[in-house]
Amino acid sequence: MMHAHAKTWVYLALVYFLVAIFLGVQMGVSQDYALRSVHTHVHLLGWVSLTLTGLVYHFFPHAGQSRMAHVHFWLYNSGTPLMLVALALFARGQGAAQPVIAIGSVMVLLAVVLFVFNVLRHRG
Ligand code: HEM
Ligand code: HEM
Repeated sequence: MMHAHAKTWVYLALVYFLVAIFLGVQMGVSQDYALRSVHTHVHLLGWVSLTLTGLVYHFFPHAGQSRMAHVHFWLYNSGTPLMLVALALFARGQGAAQPVIAIGSVMVLLAVVLFVFNVLRHRG
């Protein structure tokens, strides 16, 4: 049985999957590829990475229930949507969104460093 925290990652991943697939189809239908990098990263940072994170926490339950996992969760799941929304605005011509992409990216980077550290530290 998968524990609750690991499942939360997967539930969020499903939301990203839907958004990314809709965006992909919308791009294809409209032949407007301005949001290609958003589509890519909603899929990969959202759907793919969140699912993998949930599975890793399932297989490393000590890591999944640690305090670090809690911080990782909030940092990753605030940095990622921040970065993606800002990236979409930037791709639609809002140059002012660029520093927000940078902030979101650094939050994601720190979250991933914490994740790696957490899994290695609580791998027992
Ligand atoms: C209904 C499903 C999907 C549709 C309609 C779709 C549509 C598209 C479109 C129209 C592009 C832009 C192509 C271009 O600019 O030449 C694209 C790029 C891309 N898609 Fe999707 N996509 C789908 C699913 C996926 C999935 C499931 C993933 C990954 C998990 C994915 C990853 C990517 C990546 C990485 C690119 C960029 C490729 C590149 O830069 O050459 N897509 N997709
Ligand atoms: C903080 C996290 C990330 C940042 C800041 C970032 C940034 C970037 C940038 C600047 C590009 C080039 C875009 C372009 O040429 O238009 C790119 C492309 C790409 N990235 Fe990322 N990336 C991140 C995470 C990831 C992750 C986690 C994956 C895969 C699991 C990934 C997969 C890709 C792919 C497949 C491309 C080429 C397709 C495309 O241009 O859309 N990225 N990324």
